[in-house]
Amino acid sequence: MDDGSIDVKRAAREAAYAMPLDQIDPGDPELFRTDTMWPYFERLRAEDPVHWAVSPEPDVGGYWSVTKYNDIMAVDTNHEVFSSDPTIVLPDPKEDFTLPMFIAMDPPKHDVQRKTVSPIVAGPNLAKLEPIIRERAGEILDTCPIGEEFDWVDKVSIELTTMTLATLFDFPWEDRRLLTRWSDMATAAEDSPLFEGGGEERRRQELFGCVDYFMRLWNERVNEPPKPDLISMLCHGEATRDMDRMEYLGNLILLIVGGNDTTRNTITGSVLALNQNPDQYQKLKDFPELIPSMVSETIRWQTPLAYMRRRATQDFDLGGKTIRAGDKVAMWYVSGNRDEEVIERPNDYWIDRPRVRQHLSFGFGIHRCVGNRLAELQLKIIWEEILKRFPTIEVTGQPKRVFSSFVKGYEHLPVVIPTRI
Ligand code: HEM
Repeated sequence: MDDGSIDVKRAAREAAYAMPLDQIDPGDPELFRTDTMWPYFERLRAEDPVHWAVSPEPDVGGYWSVTKYNDIMAVDTNHEVFSSDPTIVLPDPKEDFTLPMFIAMDPPKHDVQRKTVSPIVAGPNLAKLEPIIRERAGEILDTCPIGEEFDWVDKVSIELTTMTLATLFDFPWEDRRLLTRWSDMATAAEDSPLFEGGGEERRRQELFGCVDYFMRLWNERVNEPPKPDLISMLCHGEATRDMDRMEYLGNLILLIVGGNDTTRNTITGSVLALNQNPDQYQKLKDFPELIPSMVSETIRWQTPLAYMRRRATQDFDLGGKTIRAGDKVAMWYVSGNRDEEVIERPNDYWIDRPRVRQHLSFGFGIHRCVGNRLAELQLKIIWEEILKRFPTIEVTGQPKRVFSSFVKGYEHLPVVIPTRI
């Protein structure tokens, strides 16, 4: 388990083991907000690794929870049986507001749309991006207050990932925090205070504002020669140039959320994990060449997207259960990453663990995260720049976690940087 008092951990464990098995619903966002989902997953892996859960949320209903590493791999790599259409989150799409996006499509459409945008996160472009990200990371860190508490999430994690995303889109620089806003709006729970009481209606208004903004950029770029930014790639790409407004919005949300929340929460997670494991922090300072390994370990430990959903297209036997055609299936990466049968000492944060890249956080198969190298690059750079500047970053209070069982992350993390090097 990651943090919280011994009493909270003990109570969570007792509750998880006292509950009748058939009542366990690991998709309850409250378990994630309080970081108390771990014993539920531990129990499911041991007693019912392919588990039928029933959510009280009507748009979720019944679904299979797959919690062991190898079972998750079996589902994720079998896209013919386990379809990503119509969505990769547990709640069903609202009938009057569907957002097509290629993460929630099957071949052949998925493949051609993915291919359209993938050059932006391929090796040659990452080499171009590296010095830009490094310069920005340095600037952000140089403006962090010294000896004074501040919120690491807002000041560093959001700022760096938003800047990178704005660069990928070639988005108007002064407006870049709109990207953060739309990302938050797209993923927030319906009753989130973000919507100021306006709920789903307000979310839609905001997202329509997002597509209107991006439509202006599309209209400018479609009349210019193709350029290596995401909007130009989409408006000139053979597989994407005829998208309607909702499909454009869907793919924008995919790229904004994909590129923003996940990496942001890993940057925050790295500071938290190193503080909770001071021996590992010391090891990192003594051996900075361990940064890439620490980055992979943090991505496993954090698991920024807790699950992906699939829909069975035919009956399929898994772990002694028969998943029926049409059933929903959640692949709990967060649980597979703690599977003691595959990962040695899975609950330990161990920055130089053997086979450190063996984790499920980026998924597997045809939807495996297209931005994984960019995510790792940002993490590597920020830590190289941190170690040059600060002897330590101290976490000064408990993190505030996101109320979601999908985006596993942080709203705030209070820190102090006592001094510069
Ligand atoms: C897909 C995780 C960073 C863009 C995915 C999937 C996961 C994931 C779990 C789905 C895999 C599957 O279904 O098998 C992460 C994590 C990240 C990260 C943990 C950071 C630590 C990024 C970044 C970008 C990005 C930086 C964009 C620039 C995408 C896209 C897809 C995707 C476009 C859809 C791929 C497809 O359907 O073919 N990511 N991601 N991600 N990710 Fe990431």
